[in-house]
Amino acid sequence: MKIAVLAGDGIGPEVIAEALRVIETLALPGLTMFEGDVGGTAYKRHGHPLPAETLQMARAADGVLFGAVGDPDCDDLPREYRPEQAILGLRSELGLFANLRPAAGFPGLEDFSPLKPELARGIDLLVVRELNGDVYFGNKGERDGEGGREGWDMMSYSQSEVRRIAHTAFAAAQKRRRKVTSVDKANVLETSRIWRDTVIEVARDYPDVALEHMYVDNAAMQMVRSPGQFDTILTGNLFGDILSDQASACVGSIGLLASASLGERQTAFGTFGLYEPIHGSAPDIAGRNKANPVAAILSLAMLLRHSLGRDADAGRVERAVSQTLSDGVLGADLGGSATTREIGDAVISALVTIS
Ligand code: NAD
Ligand code: IPM
Ligand code: MN
Repeated sequence: MKIAVLAGDGIGPEVIAEALRVIETLALPGLTMFEGDVGGTAYKRHGHPLPAETLQMARAADGVLFGAVGDPDCDDLPREYRPEQAILGLRSELGLFANLRPAAGFPGLEDFSPLKPELARGIDLLVVRELNGDVYFGNKGERDGEGGREGWDMMSYSQSEVRRIAHTAFAAAQKRRRKVTSVDKANVLETSRIWRDTVIEVARDYPDVALEHMYVDNAAMQMVRSPGQFDTILTGNLFGDILSDQASACVGSIGLLASASLGERQTAFGTFGLYEPIHGSAPDIAGRNKANPVAAILSLAMLLRHSLGRDADAGRVERAVSQTLSDGVLGADLGGSATTREIGDAVISALVTIS
């Protein structure tokens, strides 16, 4: 079993350090870890945010544990050298089209949500975000026009792209509460009309799953009005990016939400994937031992489950995190004073008592 660890920039290395201490505590037999440079850190060391060796290391692993990329020093670089290109490159080069972003209320954290506690308590949703298409990967460019600089980013989706992510969402919903909300903007966008038609076609293969369609503006509103109505949200790359950050705030903090990015490749142990918090490099708090490592630790749990076939260990890590939070070991993002390291310590202490 091989894990490639790409910690990246800002708080990435800080939160990944805690996830690595958790995995050491699990002491999995036959596990080898490799560490690679990515993002602004890689640009500064090697002149590229996704060096060939890093991509190769990711390909050779059974799963990739990723921190975050993004560095204010690099914001003015040409696009291909920006740190964010590294994560986009990994997602596309590795064929990771399905991004799973679960958001569920943690018992004891209801009071830290900006929503009323009874609303926060009812959250148990999964955002299934398409990750290889949309406006992210369409033709883009800039030119001088009559109104000054003009930029464009082409939004497109093909039926085959929609079909495969729709299958992911319906299959996930079958293991949950059997409801898919497909979020689009079919009242305006051609891409969304193809999206909607294709989702309806795929739904015929899943008669046990209820399908509803919702425009993205309404979905954003419904998520704060009554988030408990959502089970599985199926959506495109851009809408999924936005709605998942919003879901994290509803739960309490962006420092809590993990994600799995999966493709089709199977390994000897499970499905190859990349696992990362949904948050970024948080330059505003980087280097201060203030970041919440829970999202990174829960990303490790997802890696154990999906890519290493270690479901029981994943469950242990998740229970240790829940216990830490319900014991009130909270960082500044949740109104507490625990440091990154202290939260890691608490998760590890809880883990050793859970069998
Ligand atoms: P961000 O997620 O980094 O931070 C948003 C806010 O949430 C900040 O106030 C930050 O301090 C806080 N925050 C984020 N993670 C936290 C944690 N674990 N604990 C406590 N607080 C946390 O988003 P941003 O500020 O918009 O972007 C910063 C950089 O990160 C940018 O360069 C952006 O492109 C990049 N980014 C990268 C990824 C990724 O690597 N997948 C994801 C999102 C943003
Ligand atoms: C995320 C991030 C990325 C995205 C950026 C850094 C490219 O916001 O993983 O949510 O937009 O997908
Ligand atoms: Mn995002």
